[in-house]
Amino acid sequence: MPIVYDDATKRFALHSKAMTYAMGFDDKAQLRQLYFGPRLPHITDLPTCRAEDKPSAFDVTAEEPAYEYPGWAGLFYSEPCLKATFADGVRDVVLRYHHHHVTGDNGLVITLQDAAHPLDVELHYEIFESENLIKRYAVLKNHGDEEIMLDTALSAAWHLPKLQSYRLTHLAGRWAGETQIFQNPIHPGKTVLESRRGITSHHANPWFGVDDGAATEESGDVWFGALAWSGNWKIAIETTVEEQVHITGGIHDFDFRWELRPSDTFETPAFIAGFTSGGFGEASRNLHRYQREHLLPKNFSRQPRPVLYNSWEATYFNVTEQGQIELAKRAAELGVELFVVDDGWFGDRSSDHAGLGDWQPNAVKFPHGLRPLIDRVHSLGMKFGIWVEPEMTNQDSNLYRAHPDWVYHFPNRDRTESRNQLVLNLAKPEVAAYLFETLDKLLSENEISFIKWDMNRPFSEPGWLDASAPQQQEIWVRHVRTVYDILERLRKRHPDVAFESCAGGGGRADMGMMAYADQFWTSDNTDPYDRLSIQEGFSYAYAPRTMMCWVAESETWVKNRPSSVDYRFHSAMMGSLGIGANLLHWSDEEMARARELVRQYKEVRSIIQFGNLYRLLSLRTHHTMAVQYVSDDKSRSVVIMLRQHQHLLETMPILRLRGLEPDAMYLVRGINHPQSGQALMARGLQSNLRGDAVSDLLVITKQA
Ligand code: DGJ
Repeated sequence: MPIVYDDATKRFALHSKAMTYAMGFDDKAQLRQLYFGPRLPHITDLPTCRAEDKPSAFDVTAEEPAYEYPGWAGLFYSEPCLKATFADGVRDVVLRYHHHHVTGDNGLVITLQDAAHPLDVELHYEIFESENLIKRYAVLKNHGDEEIMLDTALSAAWHLPKLQSYRLTHLAGRWAGETQIFQNPIHPGKTVLESRRGITSHHANPWFGVDDGAATEESGDVWFGALAWSGNWKIAIETTVEEQVHITGGIHDFDFRWELRPSDTFETPAFIAGFTSGGFGEASRNLHRYQREHLLPKNFSRQPRPVLYNSWEATYFNVTEQGQIELAKRAAELGVELFVVDDGWFGDRSSDHAGLGDWQPNAVKFPHGLRPLIDRVHSLGMKFGIWVEPEMTNQDSNLYRAHPDWVYHFPNRDRTESRNQLVLNLAKPEVAAYLFETLDKLLSENEISFIKWDMNRPFSEPGWLDASAPQQQEIWVRHVRTVYDILERLRKRHPDVAFESCAGGGGRADMGMMAYADQFWTSDNTDPYDRLSIQEGFSYAYAPRTMMCWVAESETWVKNRPSSVDYRFHSAMMGSLGIGANLLHWSDEEMARARELVRQYKEVRSIIQFGNLYRLLSLRTHHTMAVQYVSDDKSRSVVIMLRQHQHLLETMPILRLRGLEPDAMYLVRGINHPQSGQALMARGLQSNLRGDAVSDLLVITKQA
């Protein structure tokens, strides 16, 4: 039974295969978290729940209760999940248990009520038994007849057990340098991971991991979690006076306000967390499995992602019907399955100064509309995809000329541009309606199978002046909800269209967007070496099949650092493969090698996209990165390794494989004697890769 409630002691235990999460309410009916860690078989294994005896007169916070969903009230000084202002001026929230019910096999809803005001808080839980994850969110309900102003409404708080020391692992970076891995000891005080830019951001990603400082890829206790939200977010990591860590997260409360009207509800995004004693590797695999099995849009989650071609780095804005056809012919020769026209096809778009908002084909570049190109792409045996950036407009566009009031702005202030563009106010119903109708029309009138949805600037001057004063700050939430809503409705009406979430690279990669997008554009940085650390960090939180990678030119705009076709392909094969180079410049030899590598990728992509990922070697500790993917039934495996640098006479580090059946016999392609899974995992493989910027791909197959 995944959900157990013991009425005698008022305790709840939520069990997955290897994890238990427990709560109970004290004699003041306040709900506290009791335990989060390895599975405990009996309810009696759990600590009891009682209100503390009198707190210390000198430090009331010394024994701060581990409230499950702390309201700001009384002697509570940590990060609250909930802060509200009631119509009578009361500004604290005291939450007491009211009732609970179990939903289905794995769900639980606990309802708390404010002690005096008509505010209910439903805490929703879902336990994922095989993935050892728990999903939480809260629904706040106003059942009175006056407005309640929400000042903070986070998703969840997680209280970690007392460890000797704590270390935080998180993902941060910059544009073209996303998802770098950082690890720091947790000291007293508060660490806030956040975005206040309106999108998830390149600068921090809403994922965390905490361990005692000793966990590795392979082993050690790790608590980890990720927020399912694509706008302003915050994850706060704090220590109590007793040096115990708790983590609170959700929609950022900076500049947040939400007017909860009578009978209204406010649902927070989900915060998904887990515990594993299998190190960071297993933490990632558990999240990946959850994403593949439960989160990604169902209509494509069982199909392999196609090999795509994208025109951006080949043509930039210089998109024309004939130019794209020429590229499409070359892409088809390589075995590409989806041809995507990027920015530059619409409106008056010949640079990033104009056109955003005018989603009709440019009449000079496409005199007969998109159809001739789409037909040609289809006749070459590929599907057709297209780029849009719906949330934006340029001042030099018909849309802006007609509706200058459709962008976020404050009166008498500059409308600060970034990339020469402004953000449309998606909180306005007429803007949301326009966007949905425009995209729906684009998809209805053209045989389009894929949309790359881009978003190339953060918010500024977030004014929504025609809304009532209390509602104006709701834009942060309403914007994201509108994006989700438009995507959901488009997906319903056009179920054969897949979507990629892009925000100038990986600025909007998160588990909120993952419910609506089949893949992410990981980074604008297409240098195959730079990509390795970006991809490694990305893989901590997100499944390889969602990680879009392109093979670019040998010398990219990022660095004048030539690399072989193999090296570029091997780097890009770690997720969903794409090609973004100008193929018209590739020699016959390069084309032939690329064709072969696309063929190899197709042969193994089901292992990469549906299998389990093991990070064998990291550039953080070696000059080589190696990743292994193992099919669910352990019968097939792939290893991709890229050696950046050989120094003195260094040999390659031994690759100790993972995840195989110890007693089964496996054949490594290229080695003609079978070896046991145990030998491959314990003794490992010695690769003879020599030199700088060299790479290889190994295919491992179980013998019948
Ligand atoms: C930013 C994206 O990340 C790029 O791939 C490309 O689509 C450009 N925008 C187009 O403007």
